[in-house]
Amino acid sequence: MAWPWLLPLGLFFAASVAQAAVVEHTFNVGNLSISQLCEQAMIITAVNGRLPGPTIKVREGDTVVVHLVNESPHNMTIHWHGVFQRGSPWADGPSMVTQCPVMPGCNYTYRFNVTGQEGTLWWHAHISFLRATVYGALVIRPRGGAASYPFSPKPHREEVLLLGEWWNANVYDLERTAFLSGNITGPANAYTINGKPGDPYSNCSAADQTYKFHVRRNEKYLLRIINAALNTPMFLRVANHRFTVVAADAAYTTPYETDVVVVAPGQTVDALMAAAGAAPGRYYMVATPYDSAVGGTPPFNPATARAVVEYAGAAGDETPQLPPPTQNNDTATAFRFLSNLTALVLPGKPTVPLSVDTRMFVTVGLGNGDCQPKQTLCNTTDGTRPRIFSSSMNNASFLLPDAGSPSMLQAHYDGNASGVYTRDFPDRPPVIFDYTADASDTDELKYTTKSTKGFGNYDEAAAAPGFRTGPR
Ligand SMILES: *[C@@H]1O[C@H](CO)[C@@H](O)[C@H](O)[C@H]1NC(C)=O
Ligand SMILES: *[C@@H]1O[C@H](CO)[C@@H](O)[C@H](O)[C@H]1NC(C)=O
Ligand SMILES: *[C@@H]1O[C@H](CO)[C@@H](O)[C@H](O)[C@H]1NC(C)=O
Ligand SMILES: *[C@@H]1O[C@H](CO)[C@@H](O)[C@H](O)[C@H]1NC(C)=O
Ligand SMILES: *[C@@H]1O[C@H](CO)[C@@H](O)[C@H](O)[C@H]1NC(C)=O
Ligand SMILES: *[C@@H]1O[C@H](CO)[C@@H](O)[C@H](O)[C@H]1NC(C)=O
Ligand SMILES: *[C@@H]1O[C@H](CO)[C@@H](O)[C@H](O)[C@H]1NC(C)=O
Ligand SMILES: *[C@@H]1O[C@H](CO)[C@@H](O)[C@H](O)[C@H]1NC(C)=O
Ligand SMILES: *[C@@H]1O[C@H](CO)[C@@H](O)[C@H](O)[C@H]1NC(C)=O
Ligand SMILES: *[C@@H]1O[C@H](CO)[C@@H](O)[C@H](O)[C@H]1NC(C)=O
Ligand SMILES: *[C@@H]1O[C@H](CO)[C@@H](O)[C@H](O)[C@H]1NC(C)=O
Repeated sequence: MAWPWLLPLGLFFAASVAQAAVVEHTFNVGNLSISQLCEQAMIITAVNGRLPGPTIKVREGDTVVVHLVNESPHNMTIHWHGVFQRGSPWADGPSMVTQCPVMPGCNYTYRFNVTGQEGTLWWHAHISFLRATVYGALVIRPRGGAASYPFSPKPHREEVLLLGEWWNANVYDLERTAFLSGNITGPANAYTINGKPGDPYSNCSAADQTYKFHVRRNEKYLLRIINAALNTPMFLRVANHRFTVVAADAAYTTPYETDVVVVAPGQTVDALMAAAGAAPGRYYMVATPYDSAVGGTPPFNPATARAVVEYAGAAGDETPQLPPPTQNNDTATAFRFLSNLTALVLPGKPTVPLSVDTRMFVTVGLGNGDCQPKQTLCNTTDGTRPRIFSSSMNNASFLLPDAGSPSMLQAHYDGNASGVYTRDFPDRPPVIFDYTADASDTDELKYTTKSTKGFGNYDEAAAAPGFRTGPR
């Protein structure tokens, strides 16, 4: 996965003045037969027959064009996670939010610019649970090449590390059953690094189950760490190695040193790793789930994923060294890592917006709601439809428009949100209390009915100048 980064000087200058390019890919989404965890081969949905799918590499300012060819048996969309999509909201990907899904046998072309962002983002299916296997990296290098990275030392090479969750199940059916029953899905069977769970799943006859990251002594690597898991924040460590964090979610951070990276689902961390101090050898890279829940509910799988960092010249059969173990509930370490993340302030470059148009106070919670008539597998043995889990923000839940309705964005452009969403998302929670003390949690707060609410005061024209509003 490593690719050479520093070009010879002449080439480098030629590249540094490169104009914005069009980076074009075709994503054939279809069946892939794969054997994981020493289980029998099974069919998953994947892009171009690979897990993870292809890495898209752009320079800031480039245009991305992706032709989605849906050869899978499922409706499909692709979300470009974290891309601003200014002026191209229809390319964002969430099914029934910004577009209708692409049906089996159909094609769709995504076209958008990657502007004002540098670092690492990623892409994934945004329908059902299909993102568990339909995902890949989006690498955004600076327009001016490696010399314009605002950190040093400059890396010799780069490495994409995608962390994932793996189920020994058809993830589409898994989500369907969860919806119909109002149940949460069971925990993942394993975690993966670049699609592979690693030891101790390496001793079956199937293809190698461990990802190997080949390094050379005295080289610096820019690790582009992406948590593609659906549910679980992860700790990442490499035995005998430290990291310097330089970016998160395609925004530069004030560099800081750490022996562990903590990354939440959907987030990315760019970190330098020097292959200098350690003796040439083999070292485990270990991804461990972070779960702060008290009492072990909802259940999660405490397994770890392992990859091997292998130095040129190391004996291939040498047993890799393990980093110190990480407790799954090590909140102190997660807090230390996350509270050290601060934006890098560069002269003349914007960091965060300094003026405020709208003030909102938003609380996020997991409560319960009524089992809906379409949820035909709800447990009704006691004669009533039971309460089921329902997430909410400011006590407002969310419901996707029915397939057959227009998507939310389409309804917006048509100037007719009726039957699709309302515009009354509350800008504050109904009750304000000490959210850090669970004793104040009340039944009233936990109950919410199904709804789809937009925020009526949002001013698109101010948020994205040049953005066309209103009906087409
Ligand atoms: C893909 O796999 C599904 C089973 O998961 C099967 O029903 C379908 O026919 C397969 N499609 C192709 C094109 O092989
Ligand atoms: C994307 O970039 C191209 C080339 O720079 C430009 O012509 C186009 O207007 C941009 N699109 C949007 C939506 O900004
Ligand atoms: C989708 O794209 C593929 C590859 O370009 C092409 O073979 C196929 O005919 C297209 N299907 C439709 C429905 O346009
Ligand atoms: C819901 O979850 C419970 C507990 O995990 C399980 O016993 C039950 O079978 C599930 N129901 C369905 C319909 O999956
Ligand atoms: C690997 O092989 C050993 C020895 O045969 C066995 O004890 C162990 O259970 C195997 N592990 C897996 C995950 O198959
Ligand atoms: C963390 O997990 C350990 C081991 O399961 C347990 O002994 C400890 O009480 C937990 N700590 C907290 C704060 O939940
Ligand atoms: C940031 O990291 C340093 C070094 O690990 C640590 O000493 C410090 O406490 C951290 N800061 C916070 C606010 O946790
Ligand atoms: C269904 O609900 C009844 C009554 O609340 C309970 O006794 C039973 O265990 C539940 N069954 C499942 C599969 O969750
Ligand atoms: C797939 O999408 C189409 C078009 O939006 C919709 O009519 C159909 O119900 C969807 N199929 C599934 C299984 O959701
Ligand atoms: C608005 O959309 C709804 C459902 O999508 C439809 O029933 C209604 O007729 C539409 N109203 C107008 C004025 O177009
Ligand atoms: C939360 O919303 C539900 C309806 O969805 C309502 O019954 C309940 O009273 C609300 N809770 C509060 C604290 O306002």
